[in-house]
Amino acid sequence: MALTCDYLVLGSGVAGLSFALEAAAHGSVLVVTKRARDESNTKYAQGGIASVLADTDTFAAHVADTLVAGAGLCHEVVVDLCVREGPARIARLREIGVRFTTRSGEADADLDLAREGGHTARRVAHAADMTGREVERAMLEAVQATGRVQFLEEHTAIDLITMSNFGGPDRCVGAYVLDNAAGRVETVLARATVLATGGAGKVYLYTTNPDVATGDGVAMAHRAGAEIANMEFYQFHPTCLYHPQAKNFLISEALRGEGATLRLLDGTPFMEKYHPMKDLAPRDVVARAIDVEMKRTGSEHVLLDITHKPASFVRERFPNIYAECLKFGMDITSQPMPVVPAAHFMCGGVTTDLHGRSTLPGLWAIGECACTGLHGANRLASNSLLEGLVFGHRAAVKLATQRAELDAAPWPTVPEWQTGSAAPSDEAVVVSHNWAELRQTMWNYVGIVRSDTRLRRAARRIALLQEEIREYYWRYLVTRDMLELRNIATVAELIVSCAAVRHESRGLHATLDYPSTDPGLARDTITKRGVLPHLRAV
Ligand code: SIN
Repeated sequence: MALTCDYLVLGSGVAGLSFALEAAAHGSVLVVTKRARDESNTKYAQGGIASVLADTDTFAAHVADTLVAGAGLCHEVVVDLCVREGPARIARLREIGVRFTTRSGEADADLDLAREGGHTARRVAHAADMTGREVERAMLEAVQATGRVQFLEEHTAIDLITMSNFGGPDRCVGAYVLDNAAGRVETVLARATVLATGGAGKVYLYTTNPDVATGDGVAMAHRAGAEIANMEFYQFHPTCLYHPQAKNFLISEALRGEGATLRLLDGTPFMEKYHPMKDLAPRDVVARAIDVEMKRTGSEHVLLDITHKPASFVRERFPNIYAECLKFGMDITSQPMPVVPAAHFMCGGVTTDLHGRSTLPGLWAIGECACTGLHGANRLASNSLLEGLVFGHRAAVKLATQRAELDAAPWPTVPEWQTGSAAPSDEAVVVSHNWAELRQTMWNYVGIVRSDTRLRRAARRIALLQEEIREYYWRYLVTRDMLELRNIATVAELIVSCAAVRHESRGLHATLDYPSTDPGLARDTITKRGVLPHLRAV
């Protein structure tokens, strides 16, 4: 028997919860999440949410900073609406109990606003250096309090259900979902299916992202035939902690917002060679500069130094980073931190309109898995939680206006999940081996600086891995690990194939073969199942 709901949300980060909170007012919501409900990229966001919140700041300045970072590919109408709707979304978060850091320490006082790379003003609302954790906590409480949102934790979406597979119209009507522990596959039917699955940092060997970030939404949407865009623009955060025991630990850009300086191992600062904004240049510039300096000097990391600030300030403003580094024997108030760039944010994704609707009827995409046009070729720091909030809300508002039409359609009849002759796997090593090889390949050949030869090498290896993954997928009963591997392989293929058609360097896509930006190529890279990537005017 299929489960039914008005809205099926895949993912429980800021975008999914933002949608669920508003949609619960007009429908039943089922949130499917791969692990515990609070485990998402959002929880690990340190910096905060960019928005125009100070009298001295303007919408025009936030728009301009976003466009500069986006390197000519942002969709201006989207940038304008996100920036203008930001303050209302922050106000809503405060209403549901998000405790942002304020200037006086009183909950309802003026916010303490931080600065990050690419921003010309202080405009980042934050909760010390644990903004995501606080936003996730308050949103989960608010969503649960509606009484109309159910969670299926430890469940992994396998594939979207599209009626065209069963001789019907091209429409998404839900998803097949694996109960991770029981191994049982549920059929979930929904009036609207909302992808809020976040990013895909696990496609690279080194990432700031948690293990759940395997690009599931983009991969499923691609298999279902939705349009995908700009996958070559994968953002590397300049500063991930470099320590053998520190897994994926981000060192927030907000440190540089407070004057922290990037230095070579001998203490020489180097960012002034690369950009007039020095350490606060847009993120693509800083990550590339670090990459160049590491290659030039042969060092395995660079240093980030905030020792000029009073120790009490550092401990109070960055309690999480301070404590985490101390665990590894580093006191950041008196010594610089070793840092390296690591994969951080997927700027491309499932293309959507201004309400989060994908090109596949019935399927919506919000947050990091979507390509709305906000980020262009390089996301401005702290614009991602903003985008999740704005589009989660917009999608729910739009769907409220379509209720009568959605309810009029009878529930479709779809077959239950078929296991065929699949057996339990006795060769899990295939998953772990391919997982490691794929991530290493992406790191070595499709990282911060690319070339045609490296992309061709990557494409060959990925094609081979995909062949093995497909074989394994059909032969054995599905597991979460297997599904995640299948998804990151699809995402890797999309990144490489999109990168291969962009014959220029722009934003996050830097290639040795085409080192300049070509004004004639200020276009989105578009692809779809069965349609090779090509450039389309923004
Ligand atoms: C950070 O705190 O540096 C991350 C913020 C972001 O990725 O926008």
